[in-house]
Amino acid sequence: MSETKNQKPIALAADHGGYELKEAIKSHLADLGLAAEDYGTFGTESCDYPDFAARACKAVQQGSSDFAILCCGTGVGMSMCANKMHGIRACCCSDSFSAEFTRRHNDANALCLGGRVVGPGLACTIVDAFLGAAYEGGRHQRRVDKMMALENQ
Ligand code: RB5
Repeated sequence: MSETKNQKPIALAADHGGYELKEAIKSHLADLGLAAEDYGTFGTESCDYPDFAARACKAVQQGSSDFAILCCGTGVGMSMCANKMHGIRACCCSDSFSAEFTRRHNDANALCLGGRVVGPGLACTIVDAFLGAAYEGGRHQRRVDKMMALENQ
């Protein structure tokens, strides 16, 4: 967790499929003393994940958050939506290694998790790996620059 530059609140969002996982992650962040801004959803009623992905990712785009954590049933829909937003580099993870290295190598700024894929314990470990890792820059910067240039194609 020491690498987390986060002084800004982490932007949280979920649909109904990720709501319970979002709540577990919110508690975990609070236990760690990390601030979070919750962009919904706020219950288990059926809703549309793109609406909530957009709200949390806008906070990252606008600089009010450095990172978003997005939960839906699989994490996949959230990651697809997030990766359509300029400046967002989202990774759907169900393992800690990917979560760590998507920060270190891809400078990911959004972590997506599936509430129907991972339990709260594993999810919090994945969150820790993501927030605890720092982007390495160096040779990865050229690749991240090329990745971001694809936004204009
Ligand atoms: C909702 O049923 C489900 O489709 C959604 O949470 C997510 O898994 C989509 O990718």
